[in-house]
Amino acid sequence: MQILDFNSKVFLAPMAGITDKPMRQIVSSLGPGIMVSEMVAINALSRKNAKTYKIADVRDEAYPVVVQLVGGDAELFADSAIFAEELGAHSIDINMGCPVKKIVGNHSGSYLMKDMSLASAIIRQVVKATTLKVSVKFRKGWDHNSVNAVEFAKMCEDCGASYITIHGRTRSDFYSGKADWDIIAEVKNAVKIPVIGNGDVTDVLKAKEMLDYTKADGVMVARAALGNPWIISDIHHYLEEGVIPQQKSLLEVKEIMQKHIISLVEYYGEKTALGLSRKYVCWYCKNLRDARKFRENYMKINNWNDAMAEIEHYFTSLEA
Ligand SMILES: Cc1cc2nc3c(=O)[nH]c(=O)nc-3n(C[C@H](O)[C@H](O)[C@H](O)COP(=O)(O)O)c2cc1C
Repeated sequence: MQILDFNSKVFLAPMAGITDKPMRQIVSSLGPGIMVSEMVAINALSRKNAKTYKIADVRDEAYPVVVQLVGGDAELFADSAIFAEELGAHSIDINMGCPVKKIVGNHSGSYLMKDMSLASAIIRQVVKATTLKVSVKFRKGWDHNSVNAVEFAKMCEDCGASYITIHGRTRSDFYSGKADWDIIAEVKNAVKIPVIGNGDVTDVLKAKEMLDYTKADGVMVARAALGNPWIISDIHHYLEEGVIPQQKSLLEVKEIMQKHIISLVEYYGEKTALGLSRKYVCWYCKNLRDARKFRENYMKINNWNDAMAEIEHYFTSLEA
């Protein structure tokens, strides 16, 4: 089943603090895949908070960006969707899965799985307010005593969602334990709109396994993309052509890591980018020789030229 007008059925998941413009640029430069923004808080967006505005502004990106909104007020949601449309969103995703206490306490994220009437009001208002397609991302349920993903999925469909994404964990699981792919299969069976499966897809084979097992229409990958931005297009090519991806060469890893860091500098400025680059450097190098020593050295660095020189030095030492 075609998912909107996307060129792929493989999604880079929304990840706050990670799937920013630099990350999306890197992933999309490597091949097909669907980019989703970090979650954008509607309260902050409506106040035109500068940082939030920047997260929502995807106008100069060359590929479609699904902009994810989070909040708990239906009217504000509708206004924010219109605003996101003006800021270049390809479509709007509604976050009904975030487990974080602060978000849930604000009647947002996975709290909405406990309040179907507010959840449905939000979806209906957003669908009515914008010309863009609207999707919803949610979980298996609030906790193991209140698993309601199937009912919730039907509600999303009735309210006009164009597709849904389900993460096979409850809110009380946060990110622990194993994602339940059976619930994804049950949801797929219950609705006619496309269903995207999410949770524990770690490589191309797992992606195929999840799709075969659940019969979902698409797959969404979050944590496995950290330090491995190739995974989205690798899964796409594997699903389309059966090609098992080759291990990335040292040169490829170095070049993409540098490109990613340069793009962080362009987007955030040198000081912020240097701080942010530390986590990416750890992820990119996690399976490489002497990574610990390199990480220790990189963490001590406080200027840009030294950072680039340290990367060069490390990769040259690996080739020796
Ligand atoms: C650091 C981090 C940030 C996340 N931020 C968001 C977010 O902003 N919106 C959202 O819907 N899910 C968010 N998630 C959840 C992921 O999109 C995804 O549902 C979850 O990690 C399960 O997928 P995985 O097993 O492929 O990691 C986040 C996950 C992580 C690890």
